Formats: sequence, structure tokens, C-alpha cells
Amino acid sequence: MIINNARLETSAVEKSHYPDSGLPEFAFVGKSNVGKSSLINCLVNRKALARTSQNPGKTRTINFFNIEDMLLFVDLPGYGYAKISRSESEKWGKMVETYLLKREQLRSIIFLIDIRHEPSANDKMMYEWLRHYGKSVITVATKSDKLSRNEIAKNTAMIRKTLELGQGDTLLPFSSETKSGRDDLWDIIKQKIETSE
Ligand code: GTP
Ligand code: MG
Repeated sequence: MIINNARLETSAVEKSHYPDSGLPEFAFVGKSNVGKSSLINCLVNRKALARTSQNPGKTRTINFFNIEDMLLFVDLPGYGYAKISRSESEKWGKMVETYLLKREQLRSIIFLIDIRHEPSANDKMMYEWLRHYGKSVITVATKSDKLSRNEIAKNTAMIRKTLELGQGDTLLPFSSETKSGRDDLWDIIKQKIETSE
């Protein structure tokens, strides 16, 4: 997939700030530092469209990226970031929850898990919460460049088991470094847009 036009449309903290283009949206959910913003950059072949950092807690607003006037990628703040106050953390949680529950044009959630580790209690809770609300979820296991092929196979099976993924549930190993998995993820995204039109 070649992307010629990708731009930040809006950064929002509340519902009244969301853009009203009506385009289908794909939101990136996962713990801080798992690689959500990097994944967006990888999909659009840009180095720094979404701001990334080695330190968790980089993305702090809901950032809507317009991709070819065809869809929006929605970069969300991560959860499980320890260095913020409780009230700040509750504010982020509410902000993300409101978006995920209220946004009509939200087509699918791209849920990120670090392929190197067993999903945490927070990861499990988030995944179950998304399923509970009947959301369409595409699970992506990031940072696959850090593991050997054997380890990727082993950990993919472990993550499937921990999250209790069914046969029809996607789990895609991915690397924003090597772009491994990029074409497959684009195929899934395009399919989601076509089947829901
Ligand atoms: P928050 O905005 O804090 O929630 O984090 P995030 O999920 O957006 O993570 P971000 O994209 O900022 O990436 C965090 C760090 O992980 C950065 O140092 C990235 O370079 C690194 N990273 C992200 N994806 C990959 C990957 O596929 N492979 C490797 N090796 N590093 C990655
Ligand atoms: Mg981010």
C-alpha cells in the first residue's frame, strides 16, 4: 500500500473536538510504549507523522490522522503508565473510554501486545472489555524483530492462549522496524472497510 497523503487532522481531549469527516476510523489501543504511534508511522511510511518516544507516556491526546481522505487512524494514549498521578490516569482512562464507546464511525480497534511478554493483567482486562462491548478487534503482536522465528511462533501461541483468542481471531506478528506484517495488516484494514460499507 502506497500512501501519498497522511496528515494530522485534529488532536482532541473531548468529544466535541472530534473531527466530523464521517470517514471510517481505526484506533490503536495498548499499553504505553508498546509501539502504537510507531505502527501508524510504519503503515503510512512516514518517520514521524505520529510522535514516538523511548519513554512511555508520549501520546497524551487523541490524535486523528487523515489517510488519503479514505480513513482515519486514531492514535490513543497508552495505559499502564506509572509516572502520572492517579487523577491524571483517570482522566486519560475516561478520555479513551469515551472515544471507544461513543464513536460511531469506529470501524475496528488495532490492539497491540508486545510479542516478547505474556499479556499483563491490564492487557487482558482491556481485551476483555473490548470484546464485552462487541468491538471488532485486530490483535497485533509488536516488536517481532526482537525475537527469532522460533520464539515468534512460541510466543504467538502463548499470547493466543493467555488472551483466549478463538480460531477466527487474528493475531498478527508485526515489526515497525522491519515493516514485517505491514502488507497483511493493510489487507485486513481494507477488508474491514469493504465489508462494513
Ligand atoms: P505511548 O504514546 O507512550 O502510549 O507509546 P506508544 O505505544 O505510542 O509507543 P511508541 O510508538 O512511541 O514506541 C515506543 C518505543 O518502542 C520507541 O522507542 C520505538 O522506537 C519502539 N518501537 C516501537 N515499535 C517497535 C518495533 O516494532 N520494533 C522495535 N525494535 N522497537 C519498536
Ligand atoms: Mg504513542
